[in-house]
Amino acid sequence: MASNPFERASSGRSQWQSRAGFILAAAGAAIGLGNIWKFPFITGQNGGGLFVLIYLACIALVGLPVMVSEIIIGRAAQKSPVAAYNGLSGGKTIWSLVGWVGVTAGFILLSYYSVVAGWSMNYIGLALQDSFTGRDPKEITGLFVGLVQDLPRSILWHGVFMGLTTAIVLIGVRRGIETGVRIMMPLLLVFMVGLMVYAGTLPSFTTALDFVFSPHSDRLTAGGVLEALGHSFFTLSVGLGGLITYGSYLNRNDDIVAASTAITVLDTFVALVACLVMFPFLFAVGAEPTNGPPLIFIAMPIAFSQIPGGALWGIVFFGLLFFAALTSAISLLEVVVSTLIDQLKIGRKLATVVSGGGIFLYGILSAKSDLQIPGIEATGPDFLQQMDFFVSNVFLPLGGLAITIFAGWVIPRSTSYEEFNSAKQRDRLYRGWLFLVRYVVPLAIVTIFLYSVLHNLQL
Ligand code: TRP
Repeated sequence: MASNPFERASSGRSQWQSRAGFILAAAGAAIGLGNIWKFPFITGQNGGGLFVLIYLACIALVGLPVMVSEIIIGRAAQKSPVAAYNGLSGGKTIWSLVGWVGVTAGFILLSYYSVVAGWSMNYIGLALQDSFTGRDPKEITGLFVGLVQDLPRSILWHGVFMGLTTAIVLIGVRRGIETGVRIMMPLLLVFMVGLMVYAGTLPSFTTALDFVFSPHSDRLTAGGVLEALGHSFFTLSVGLGGLITYGSYLNRNDDIVAASTAITVLDTFVALVACLVMFPFLFAVGAEPTNGPPLIFIAMPIAFSQIPGGALWGIVFFGLLFFAALTSAISLLEVVVSTLIDQLKIGRKLATVVSGGGIFLYGILSAKSDLQIPGIEATGPDFLQQMDFFVSNVFLPLGGLAITIFAGWVIPRSTSYEEFNSAKQRDRLYRGWLFLVRYVVPLAIVTIFLYSVLHNLQL
């Protein structure tokens, strides 16, 4: 098997096998725990409606333009992040630094992402043992508490997940993954929509609809607005330069704008559907969707304890969640690995093993998770949530700021123009994008960021 997971094109640099290859890989990277695990619980914590509205605005006006920027940078430079910044900026150190900060953020992100993915794997096991049938919500919460308090078990699954991710990047079965995404993604979509239709038969469905879509909120804070912004980066996989690498493998004739839009719409759809699956079941048993990271591991087993054939659906659901997490994790590891290869001039094998091993070790800190679960004493600071806070609310927005400044102001206009319009001439849209990345996005990020920081300092 080739040591590089990407097929070699005759032009030299690896390229995706097909146009669908890029969209599938980018959609696989985008759709993951962010959509199904994180979005519902932050929506619950921030009181629903208004938070969702701000999130949607951030996706359209900030996340999507940043995604287009990253891919443009990648395809124009034909390199991984640090080298791309270096090349396009004429070797300015500050920009290499931006690249390295992004790689560090990817390292940290994957370290706790893998812990949550490990929990999902453990839940496949629980579903296989038919652990949800006949249990009441309290017992179901107990299952989750049992898992996070069992450190060796959490570390074991985190290790299994990181091991798998590392092995896939190592042996380069990217094409297999592309095929996997091709099958699993539609399956995930159909399955989630099916669950939503079932949830639609519950009387609590209208309460859930109202919670998610009516823009009334008494719980949204300045921090919540920053969280909506940060999550628009997290969920689209932008802000740390990951799509620079993916963009560098993109064919010249491919349409960056159309691909980005398709990925963004799909990603947002899955996140909203996930809320409309989970909230009706929670509301039906009188639970509030405010318990944070455990939400999915409580709401879904409650659902499966009620749905006919729930045990089987549980296996399928956590199986799909695991796969969605895996394709995202591969993209994250790829960012770290491709940078180490390009910058330190080391081989792919060494780079992959060192990165995967390092991320596993660092992730152990997050596996020891004292999650705040209402009604249960927490024993200390929760490292996992602190890491997620720094990555999502600090690193990614600031990374996004740097990326748009780079795409809007540093690289020549002719370059971005050419990349933007390589497949189809869209002059007005290009001007709109340029206006967004030059003014709107930087201003929005700086304003929301400062507003939240100042607000917190006053408290
Ligand atoms: N978008 C993924 C999710 O929602 C996570 C992810 C994968 C990511 N690659 C990334 C986030 C790169 C930021 C940057 O689960």
